[in-house]
Order: sequence, then C-alpha cells, then structure tokens
Amino acid sequence: MATVRGLRHLLTCSRWRRGSGEAPQSRTLAAIVPGISQVDNNSDFLGKTPHRRHPGILQLPCIEVPPALAAAAQFLLLGSSMPNVEKQVQALTNYLWSRRLPVEPQELQRRAVHLEKKFLENPDLGQLEEKLREAVLRALRKTTYHWQELNYNESLSLVYMAARLDGGFAAVSRAFHEIQVRVPEFQPQTLMDFGSGTGSVTWAAHSAWGQSLREYLCVDSSAAMLVLAEKLLKGGSESGEPYVPGVFFRQFLPVSPKVQFDVVVSAFSLSELPSKADRTELVQTLWRKTNHFLVLVENGTKAGHCLLMDARDLVLKGKEKSPLDPRPGFVFAPNKKKQKDEKFSMVILARGSPEEANRWPRIIQPVLKRPRHVHCHLCCPDGHMQHAVITARQHGRDLYRCARVSSWGDLLPVITPSESELPLSPADDPPGS
Ligand SMILES: C[S@@+](CC[C@H](N)C(=O)[O-])C[C@H]1O[C@@H](n2cnc3c(N)ncnc32)[C@H](O)[C@@H]1O
Repeated sequence: MATVRGLRHLLTCSRWRRGSGEAPQSRTLAAIVPGISQVDNNSDFLGKTPHRRHPGILQLPCIEVPPALAAAAQFLLLGSSMPNVEKQVQALTNYLWSRRLPVEPQELQRRAVHLEKKFLENPDLGQLEEKLREAVLRALRKTTYHWQELNYNESLSLVYMAARLDGGFAAVSRAFHEIQVRVPEFQPQTLMDFGSGTGSVTWAAHSAWGQSLREYLCVDSSAAMLVLAEKLLKGGSESGEPYVPGVFFRQFLPVSPKVQFDVVVSAFSLSELPSKADRTELVQTLWRKTNHFLVLVENGTKAGHCLLMDARDLVLKGKEKSPLDPRPGFVFAPNKKKQKDEKFSMVILARGSPEEANRWPRIIQPVLKRPRHVHCHLCCPDGHMQHAVITARQHGRDLYRCARVSSWGDLLPVITPSESELPLSPADDPPGS
C-alpha cells in the first residue's frame, strides 16, 4: 500500500542543500546529490530539448481517428437503415458509463441471509416460509444492481461503433503512446486484441507500430462485430484490400499455450464478462499469451478502475504460474486520467524487470500552478505518494520548469528517494510562506 507523505523530501532536500552552502543547483550538480529528490540528469536528458517537451511528457495533445477509418464508419452508418440512431447511441453510452460490476453469487447469498434475519424479526413474515422467501427476493430485486450482458448483434455493433469508436481509439492510442515514448526501441511484430469489437485497437496499433507489426489477431465472440471490423478495414465494403495487412479474425482465443504475442490488449472487454471467475481466468490466459506488454483499458469509472486493479494484482501476485514463461510481471504504467473528453483507466503490465522502466514518479492529479511554485501529487516508483511543492529557488530552474509544463499522467523527470530513505523528522512549511 502506498503511504501519503507530505511535502517533506523536496523541501527537506532544499534546506539541506542551502544549509550545506552549495551553489545554486545546476543540471550536473543535481544529479550527484544522493538520496534526494532531484532532476534526473544522469544522462543529461534535457540536452537541447526545451522544458515544455521534457521526456516525461506523455500527453497526446489531440488524437485524430485515421481519416480512412472515419470515412468507412460514416459510410456504414449512412448505409444502414437503423431508426433513431442518435437515441440508441445516447442510450448505449449512458448504459456503458453507468455500468457497475456484476454482483457476485456469494455477495447475493450474503445479502439474502442478512435480509432473512431482518425479516424474521417481523412476526407476520417469520411464521410463513413462503412469505419470507418472497419478501427476501423482492427486497433483493429492489436493491441489487442488475448487470446485463450485451448481445452485440448487427445493429448493436453499429450503434457501439457510432458511440465508442473515437473514444476507444483515443484511449488505446494514449496507452500505446506511453510504450512508444518510454521504450522507443520496442518494435512489436505480433498483437492480439481480445474483445476486438470494431477493431479500433488494430487501427491504433497500426498507427503506432505499423512498420514492424506483421500480425494482428482480433478475437471476438460476436460474429457481427468481426464482420463489422473487417468491413471497416476495407473502407466499408465486404471486398477489397484491407487498409491494414495481416489482420486475422477469430471467435475464440488460440488454444495452444505456446503461442505468445508481443502485445496483448483487452480494451473495454473485461467489463463484458459476467463474473469475477471469468475475468480471473481471462486475465491469466491473456498474461500467458503476453510476450512483452499486456495493455488493459477500461472506462474511467470506479467499476473500470476496480477491474484493472484486480487484474493487476492477479498478475503481480503471481497466482498464475506460467509454465512456459517464468518472467515475472511489473506495472509499466498505472494510470487514471482525463484525456480530451475520454476518461479511461488503464494498466500496462510488462514482463521483465521494472528498474529501468519505472525510475520516474508519475503525476497523479492535475498540476496546480501557483505564483512561483507548483504543486505536484506524485506516485513514486516504490509506490509511495508524495505531494511535492516545487520552486525554482529550492529545486532549481530545470525541475521547476519541467514541473510547470507537466500535466496529470506525465512522468516527472526527477529522482525521488524510496520511502525508507526519507528523513524522519516532519518538515516543513510551504515554500514562500
Ligand atoms: C465493449 S466492446 C469493446 C470493443 C473494442 N475492444 C473497443 O475498444 O472498442 C466488447 C467486445 O467484447 C466482446 N466479447 C464479450 N465477451 C467476449 C468473450 N467471452 N470472448 C470474446 N469476445 C467477447 C464483445 O462481443 C464486444 O465486441
């Protein structure tokens, strides 16, 4: 569990430096002060790069759906004779954004027992078993969230496309962008997309790694969705050359446990599964099929976030033992952020060692810019939280300016001490006070 720490170390370090009479922080000097929050300048990461483009910035200013995809979607919508499309799109959007997790059978049982006890205190109900049962069922029906499985037939698939194609594409593009920026040498050759729907993941992956990807496997239990995704790739028709070569469509996951993919994705599909047991099994299967990165994306809602935290824990706690790939997993990118109008949750899990990938803390709330100081809430590489108040005077111009141009979701190019290295004495007043 992460601990919330105060302003302590950034402020403490600046006092220490002032006390020791050092010269104002320079880029190189900052990098050699041990155990202290400081600009990570080991590799002179800024070089000639302006602060506003420091390498921790992961924002995508504006994501555009590829014109070929937008045109194909429009063509299909115009060609359909569906009545009240706009109303249906609104209804589906509302449903998806308000959707909660299905109630688990054990939880239902627990609630039923609780209600039964309560009703037994009522002498009228307590004597008649039948009456009691009915009362319990009625109360359960009234108070329990009714999760519904969606049947993605031809018309619902089209409505889903109209409602979610752009938002889904944007969220997944942002996740891929994170990998691209942080591991530019990663050139995946194969990708599997579980619950592929309209195929927006394939389009986003093609935009990100089109040069290297040679196989995209789209898995979706809905035959109608698979047909729609294929049509979108062919400009809205059933024939012709697909816009992206090497895309394969399947209704089931590949059976062989030996087959792995460089990138495995599930976008907005874990929330389609009816129970925790189904989700557990799926995440374990997807992780087994992951060679490098497992990218999970869900809506930026409490339900979406919970799904991803469960999935993350499942992989990290190693309940799944992959007989073929013993490399452990680590969280490459935990995040919950606002992107354009699309609020989504994501977790990217990677195989291998976290040391290199996770050396900078992530900004986990909007950055508050105030006169001559900036408030940054950080999630540090060792998992602890830090509320840092950064000023040019105390932390140097580089860190201050990098912080000032950063946003929620970016990495701050700074070395933070691990929690155990933090000074024990509570510091400090806010700077400038
Ligand atoms: C909400 S859509 C997401 C589509 C797509 N990933 C996107 O980002 O737009 C969920 C998809 O998961 C598919 N799905 C649901 N349960 C599935 C299962 N057990 N196996 C494969 N696909 C499934 C549905 O048919 C649907 O196309």
